[in-house]
Amino acid sequence: MIQDARKPVIRFIDLFCGIGGFRIAAEQAARLLGVRSECLLSSDIDEPCQIAYEANFKHKTLGDITKISADSIPDHDLLLAGFPCQPFSIIGQRKGFEDTRGTLFFEIARILEVKRPSAFVLENVKMLKGHNGGKTLNRIMEALRALGYICDYRVLNALDFGLPQKRERIFIVGYKKPCPFVWPYGKVKMTPLSRILEQNVPKEYFASEYIRNNRLARHAPTEMPTIWHENKAGNISVYPYSCAMRAGASYNYLLVNGERRLTPREMLRLQGFPDSYKIVCNYSQTRKQAGNSLPVPVAQSVLFQLFAAQGWHNGVYDDSLKQEESVHGQMILLERRAKYGRKKKPKVAYC
Ligand SMILES: C[S@@+](CC[C@H](N)C(=O)[O-])C[C@H]1O[C@@H](n2cnc3c(N)ncnc32)[C@H](O)[C@@H]1O
Repeated sequence: MIQDARKPVIRFIDLFCGIGGFRIAAEQAARLLGVRSECLLSSDIDEPCQIAYEANFKHKTLGDITKISADSIPDHDLLLAGFPCQPFSIIGQRKGFEDTRGTLFFEIARILEVKRPSAFVLENVKMLKGHNGGKTLNRIMEALRALGYICDYRVLNALDFGLPQKRERIFIVGYKKPCPFVWPYGKVKMTPLSRILEQNVPKEYFASEYIRNNRLARHAPTEMPTIWHENKAGNISVYPYSCAMRAGASYNYLLVNGERRLTPREMLRLQGFPDSYKIVCNYSQTRKQAGNSLPVPVAQSVLFQLFAAQGWHNGVYDDSLKQEESVHGQMILLERRAKYGRKKKPKVAYC
């Protein structure tokens, strides 16, 4: 980390950046710990994602990562990558770092090998854990360890981090030097759907009368807002939260109260994007982008723990905080300390 005269800076790169969910999480975590962060490079091959990213971060995104030489990448402290699941079937069959060649995971490994940042956080679908009887994930972990990183993984659910979305994702954290990193617990109370849903939603979001009647024939209307899910067999499940948004799912897979699709703003809120995030792409592009993105509060909690463990903070974080059982509790403590000073020993409260 660069010791700047004003504030230390965490320099990071954002690979497979999509619309920048990881970047928002890193910036938020750094801010909570009183340090600056600076994204030195971002890359995504998808043009609409590049447009959304540039509109929001005023930062031009590079394209295909396979065409970017590791030497041309600036030195950084942290590598972030929510890499696509495309390479699984290939990695699982083979052994070690060299054998990941030709996969998008290899692109991460080759950059780590040359640039050697202090730490990295990778994110992927939960399925990676069980793929090919666990062999695929083992190969990935072996490859990362062969590069000299201490690493671990954990499946975390967005529902445990305050979002009304059941979205389980695997996070892989690695660092060069031993540090007291602990995984966040979550335990944050769920934001009610009513706070995510927009009012006066335009007609175009409503499903046809045929679809609505079809849903009502299979489930009674609910008093509280709910999301109605249709599985491949045509069964309807109704929950006060959304199941994982999926980029390629049918347009009627998730229906608010069984009658309408989610608006772009609602989809971004379900992933924890702030309302200040500008929506510049059309409905189907934004739907795909939100479905491919990551739950920001989960990534933020993981990054908060990592930054704190790496000592990337401005003295606001100490050992007593490390022992608190959730990041949410830690954030409340930080806020109280900022308000009342350090001497008072506050109780942790969960809202
Ligand atoms: C799972 S999404 C990651 C989304 C991101 N974490 C976010 O918050 O929006 C994977 C991304 O990898 C991008 N991608 C796929 N192949 C790529 C390549 N060869 N080079 C750069 N990006 C690529 C896709 O366009 C997609 O946006």
